[in-house]
Amino acid sequence: MSEVASWIDLSGKNAHVTGGGKGIGKAIATTLAMAGAKVMVSDINLESAQATASEIDGAAMALDVSDREAVDAAMKQTVDELGSLDILVNNAGRYLGFGGPVEQITDEKWRSLWSVNVDGVFYCCRAAATIMKEQGNGGRIINLASTQAVTPGVGVTYDGSKGAVVMITKTLALELAPHGINVNALAPGATWVNPGDPPPLGGDAPPRSGEPLTDQVTDRISRVPMGRWGMPMDQGMAALFLASEMSAYVTGIYLPVDGGWLTL
Ligand SMILES: NC(=O)c1ccc[n+]([C@@H]2O[C@H](COP(=O)([O-])OP(=O)(O)OC[C@H]3O[C@@H](n4cnc5c(N)ncnc54)[C@H](O)[C@@H]3O)[C@@H](O)[C@H]2O)c1
Repeated sequence: MSEVASWIDLSGKNAHVTGGGKGIGKAIATTLAMAGAKVMVSDINLESAQATASEIDGAAMALDVSDREAVDAAMKQTVDELGSLDILVNNAGRYLGFGGPVEQITDEKWRSLWSVNVDGVFYCCRAAATIMKEQGNGGRIINLASTQAVTPGVGVTYDGSKGAVVMITKTLALELAPHGINVNALAPGATWVNPGDPPPLGGDAPPRSGEPLTDQVTDRISRVPMGRWGMPMDQGMAALFLASEMSAYVTGIYLPVDGGWLTL
């Protein structure tokens, strides 16, 4: 193995990816496994987690990240089944159906998104950091933020939650740096996660099949400087950078993977 190849080799590392049953989480779990990691795939939908795990020779469990006790148990179970917890990817998140004018955002809507996107990230970070500190071998935590964390667009509930994820990331990066635990945020731009896409590395924009797109979404994609949707594997490759030796001296960053969207 060349020296460079060894920098992205995750053999012997154990990872937990939340919301790994589909979309970006599935691509990240797959990429980490391709690099040699053993991956625990969790999802609120157990069947989808099992499907991903069976494709990558990983393990699977049901987990609702908004359930604090379940999160603590899931991180412990990861160590029991895989032997350690070296990499945590906080991918599970909700975004559809939470927009609209502020006066129409009910407490229930607000809490149901924040309980996953913010409470869930915090619970998983806390449980994993506790384990990683005890293990004494450092670790990697990758939190899925969004370009919406720094540019409003989807609505106060979602955009606010992703802004919180960025500051949770920076604060924990500072706190955990002396323990060798790097904490970074990955910020996807608009990413096509509908099943039936062409191969993720195909490069061209996928056909606009599946759920009908709103004019707002279509307009947004037409303004992406690179002229295409993000693909789940775009995020997978960036996550591999953040999970591997390639980013040994990187912590507390907000990494947009957005086809140039944030340059606008
Ligand atoms: N797709 C995009 O354009 C985009 C852009 C920016 C950021 N993101 C972020 O990336 C992450 C993944 O997005 P995606 O597009 O792949 O989403 P997705 O909806 O395709 O998949 C999300 C997965 O998370 C699971 N999930 C939902 N609630 C959960 C919970 N409470 N506990 C555990 N699992 C749960 C779902 O079952 C699903 O498998 C999210 O945090 C999202 O906010 C996505």
